[in-house]
Amino acid sequence: MLHKRIRLPSLHSRITSAAEAAALVKDGMTLGLSGCGCSGDAKAVPYALIERARHSPLTVSLVTGASIGNGIDGKLAEVGLVSRRKPFQADPALRRAINSGKVMFVDQHLSETAEQMRHGQIDPPDIMVVEAVAITEQGHIVPTSSVGNSGLLVQMAKQVIVEININTSLDWEGLHDIYLPEVRPNRSPMAITRSEDRIGTSAIPLDPDKIVAIVISEYSDAPATILPPDEDTRRIADHLIGFLKDEVDAGRLSNNLAPLQVGVGSIANAVMSGLADSPFEDLIMWSEILQDSTFELMDAGKLKFASATSVILTEALGQRVFSNIGEYSDKIVLRPQDVSNHPEVIRRLGPISINTALEFDLYGNVNSTLIGGTDIMNGIGGSGDFARNTFMSIFVTKSTAKNGAISRVVPMVSHVDHIQQDIDILVTEQGLADLRDLAPRERAKLIIEHCAHPDYREALWAYFDKACAKGGYTPHDLSEALSWHVNLENHGRMLVS
Ligand code: COA
Repeated sequence: MLHKRIRLPSLHSRITSAAEAAALVKDGMTLGLSGCGCSGDAKAVPYALIERARHSPLTVSLVTGASIGNGIDGKLAEVGLVSRRKPFQADPALRRAINSGKVMFVDQHLSETAEQMRHGQIDPPDIMVVEAVAITEQGHIVPTSSVGNSGLLVQMAKQVIVEININTSLDWEGLHDIYLPEVRPNRSPMAITRSEDRIGTSAIPLDPDKIVAIVISEYSDAPATILPPDEDTRRIADHLIGFLKDEVDAGRLSNNLAPLQVGVGSIANAVMSGLADSPFEDLIMWSEILQDSTFELMDAGKLKFASATSVILTEALGQRVFSNIGEYSDKIVLRPQDVSNHPEVIRRLGPISINTALEFDLYGNVNSTLIGGTDIMNGIGGSGDFARNTFMSIFVTKSTAKNGAISRVVPMVSHVDHIQQDIDILVTEQGLADLRDLAPRERAKLIIEHCAHPDYREALWAYFDKACAKGGYTPHDLSEALSWHVNLENHGRMLVS
C-alpha cells in the first residue's frame, strides 16, 4: 500500500498520527483545507483539531475551496476554532455562528480567492491540509474527488500536511488537470477551447520538503443529500426543456445545446435529470460541481463529457461510481476552481448556466445568498462567475417557500447578488420568463404572469401599477418596496390583509 500511495520513499518517515499533525497548527494561523462542494475534504486532521480545541482553545482563519462536508465546518465553529472563514460554506451551525457575528465570513466568487491570494491581496495559509489519493515519485499531490483551491493553497502554504485517503480508488489519478494561472499582468490566454481540453498536469506540483506530515485517513466524503424530483421541480424542468427545444427549433442552439453549467441542489439536479427524456444528444458540461444527474446522463448515453472542479454524489450512486471511477476517465476532468469558474474560459466556451435563486424581483434582480437581506444562507459560490459571463444565464426556483407564506417573486429583492443585466431567463414551476432584450418594465409583466404564484400575482400587479404611476426606469415605491419582507419578519408571512 505504502509504495503505491507514497511513491517518494524519503517521505515515508513523515507519516504520523492525525493528532500529532494537528499539533502543528498554532493559535492565530491561517489554515487551508482541501474541499469543495463537500468533496475531497481533509477530514482526519480537522477532526483531531476539533478534539484538541475542546480542552485547549485556539482559533484559526480558515480557507478552503468551498463547502466542506461531514459537518466539519459546523463542528469547527461550535468549538470556537474558526474566527474567519472564506470563501463559501453550507453548514447550519457555521451559518448560525456567522449570523450571530462570532465568525467573520468573507463570501467570495469562487474564482477569486486564488486570484487574490496569488497577488498577495489575501494571506496564504501557514499550513495547508490536503486530502490525496497518492503522492507521486516527485512528491506531487494527486487529489481525490475535488480540486477546488487545493493547487494554489498547496503551492502558497508555508507547510503542507497530506492526508492519504486509502479508501479512495487509485483510478482517480489522471482525472485531474492541474493548471495554475500565471500572475498578472500579461498572463497568457488559457488554451481551453473545448470542455475536454487538458492544459495542465495530473498532480499538484510542490516542493516535497514542504510536506511536514503525512496522515493515513479512511474517512469518506459525506454523501450528498438530494431530494428526489417533486411535482414542482418536474414542472420547472419541463418549462426549461420546452424552452431549450424552442431555441433549437429557432436555430439559436444546436441539438447538443451548449456546454451546461448546473448549480448545486435538488432543483438543479432535477432539471438535469429531466434532460434524460429530452431529444437533446451528445451533451457536454462545463460546470463547477458534478452531481448524480451527470453520471445518470452519462450512463444513459446522453452526456459525452463533463468538466468541473468537484464531484459530490448521493450514497447509492457514490458507492457505484467512486469504486469504478476509472470507467469515467475519458469522460471527466476535474480542474482548479479558478479555471472551472474563470470568466475568460466561460466567455469563450459559452455555457448555458442554470443556478438557483432564493428570491427575485419584478425586474429580474436575483438574491441567492441573504435571507431577509441580512442572514447568510450559503454564499454566492460560483453563481456570479457564471451568470455574468455565460452564453445564457438561467435562474430557477419554486415560486413560494415555507408552505406559501413566502413569495420568491417580490417587489424588490432584499439583497442583490445578480443584477438584472446578468439574468436572461427565470423559471419557476408556474412558467418561464424569457427576459432577453427586454427593458425593466417589460420584464416585470412577464415575471408576474409567468413566474409568480397565482396567490401573489394580484399584489404584485398592484405594486407595479402604483410604482409605475410614480415613474422611473425600474419603477419603485420605496415606502412599500420591502414591506413584504417586513411583514414576514413581523407576522411570519409576506402578505397580511
Ligand atoms: N425567504 C426566506 N426563506 C427562504 C426563501 C426566501 N425567499 N427562499 C428559500 N427559503 C428557505 C427555504 O424555505 C428553506 O428553508 P427550510 O430548509 O427551513 O425549509 C431554505 O431557505 C433553503 O431554501 P431552498 O429553496 O430549499 O434552497 P436550495 O437548497 O434550493 O438552495 C440556494 C438554494 C440559493 C440557497 C443555493 O442554490 C445556493 O446556495 N446558491 C448560491 C451558490 C450557487 O449558486 N452555487 C452554484 C454555482 S456553480
